[in-house]
Amino acid sequence: MTGTTTTQEPVYKTDALISEDIDKYLEVHQHKTMLRFITCGSVDDGKSTLIGRLLYDSKMIFEDQLAALESDSKKVGTQGQQIDFALLVDGLAAEREQGITIDVAYRFFATEKRKFIVADCPGHEQYTRNMITGASTADLAAVMIDARKGVLTQTRRHSFLAKLIGIKHIVLAVNKMDLVDYDQSTFDRIVADYRDFAKQIGIESFTAIPISGLAGDNITTRSENTAWYTGPVLLEHLETVDLDTDENATDAFRLPVQWVNRPNLDFRGFAGQIAAGTVKPGDAIRVIPSGKTSTISRIVSFDGDLDQASAGQSITVTFDDEIDCSRGDVICAADDPAEAADQFEATVVWMADEEMLPGRNYILKIGTQTVSAAVQHPKYRIDVNTMEHLAAKTLGLNDIGVCELSTDKRVVYSAYTENKDMGGFILIDRMTNATVAAGTLHFALRRAQNVHWQSIDVSRESHAAIKNQRPRVLWFTGLSGSGKSTIANLVEQKLHALGKHTFILDGDNIRHGLNKDLGFTDADRVENIRRIGEVARLMTDAGLIVLTSFISPFRAERQLARSMMGEGEFVEIYVNTPLEVAESRDVKGLYKKARAGDLKNFTGIDSPYEPPENPEITVDTTTMSAEQAAELIVDQVLS
Ligand code: ADX
Repeated sequence: MTGTTTTQEPVYKTDALISEDIDKYLEVHQHKTMLRFITCGSVDDGKSTLIGRLLYDSKMIFEDQLAALESDSKKVGTQGQQIDFALLVDGLAAEREQGITIDVAYRFFATEKRKFIVADCPGHEQYTRNMITGASTADLAAVMIDARKGVLTQTRRHSFLAKLIGIKHIVLAVNKMDLVDYDQSTFDRIVADYRDFAKQIGIESFTAIPISGLAGDNITTRSENTAWYTGPVLLEHLETVDLDTDENATDAFRLPVQWVNRPNLDFRGFAGQIAAGTVKPGDAIRVIPSGKTSTISRIVSFDGDLDQASAGQSITVTFDDEIDCSRGDVICAADDPAEAADQFEATVVWMADEEMLPGRNYILKIGTQTVSAAVQHPKYRIDVNTMEHLAAKTLGLNDIGVCELSTDKRVVYSAYTENKDMGGFILIDRMTNATVAAGTLHFALRRAQNVHWQSIDVSRESHAAIKNQRPRVLWFTGLSGSGKSTIANLVEQKLHALGKHTFILDGDNIRHGLNKDLGFTDADRVENIRRIGEVARLMTDAGLIVLTSFISPFRAERQLARSMMGEGEFVEIYVNTPLEVAESRDVKGLYKKARAGDLKNFTGIDSPYEPPENPEITVDTTTMSAEQAAELIVDQVLS
């Protein structure tokens, strides 16, 4: 591209090869480098118009689309007789509104020098999730700014996220220059403002380009309207920006195992994408977290065996010995293996409408590993405008905070700044399966590193055997006043009379001692039940049959308590008493207080109760006496 081409004249002609020699065209394409980028900014900054123009000028529009675009532009476009490029891109927006959820629209185009995939992330604040999805694989972010408005909150927020995710190249596209008369001082002021902010968040360099998506200035061709501007035009920059894809080539070898390929007894291969380093047959490896060692025997790929493979390649390796290695393990260079830990500090971007519940167990996915993780109260939340650290009890939609988290198993990891694949994670809600957060690991906390599991000689089984019983947890759940404690009490009497060793953990009682620091917010109830789950588990280790009587309103925490026990050892008993009935009993007078507004967060009134979906036992206290319910439970438990 030369600096003298006049405005509006697309430099990129239709690639004649498409019609003349499609094989040749595909081959040429295959060897071009690929730049993935995202556009971000506020809603009206002109992202759609810009992308539309890039597609149009690179002739990546089908003829029928072009015809439709020309006629739609006249009918509904905002540009008079001219083509409204935004329509091209916003067609997909309509689909989004119809509920066909396209969170991020990816578009492909190519020039003679490079292929491009652009992720168009909607600009509204509630679309942080989309921005993160689109950005996670991007090499470059084009941060769009309306020249009339300058740097806005959204500009800061998206730049911060781009930096957090580790996007290496930032383009500051100062758009709508036509509306400020191509004024250099306006451009310079915006660039200076942005530079101040960028420095605060650690963005050391960026390329600022004055453009007009609508008028076409400095997009594919140099504009005469900005004679004062001497830098590259947008497409030229996109075509030439340095793509250092092999950044980890010199790092130690890491292969997170995606799956174990065992087609027959003679072959056992471990497949995955290399996250860092290189590998050759004969290399000594160590599998983390187990620490077992072996030697690489073959590197198998689609194109036959390889002599060497490096970061980014998808391969299958085989070992010289039959050591254990499964999905989620990471095969590492033996002399420089990755670390594993179960407590971390991390930055968390919360993306769900429902607030984060500190202490709740979420599913954490990191690379090929899936574990259970609880996030603690945030250390602080970050104000994206000022970068100030603010006190926070939880994180709401779009909040970014720094938290500690602990996982149920050791996780093989790297700091995100060192390796994105091994340091970036998402959190998933167990019940809804929705992705609720994305995050980046900073470092492992040392505090648990020197605490080992002490092995004890008198086992769980011996404790149970001497009591001649099978330990269980009988988990009663239901509204306040549903009859949980009354029934649990009767059940314990009956079991005791039969010579069983039992113990009751009761909500009201435990809240006077072990849990007297907890109230009735959602987060406190989560912690209440987490502790009870742990105590109940310890008591079953001691061989007891434990009866717990807590409202335990959330499925997620009841599930957590269940997951701590063995198969058949957790008996969920739903004391199903409708709210009206529990309220009419009102033994403690609490419903009355709650209705009067004197007691906040009362279950069933202004705090939720999630009934069990598949309880082992349900008792209906409107048709059954407490005595009958207790008999039914004892029969079932001892059968
Ligand atoms: S849970 O929700 O965390 O499982 P838990 O069973 O320990 O609750 O405690 C419930 C008991 O605390 C109720 O039976 C009632 O006596 C008392 N209580 C006091 N305030 C509340 C409230 N806001 N919501 C529910 N129960 C309350």
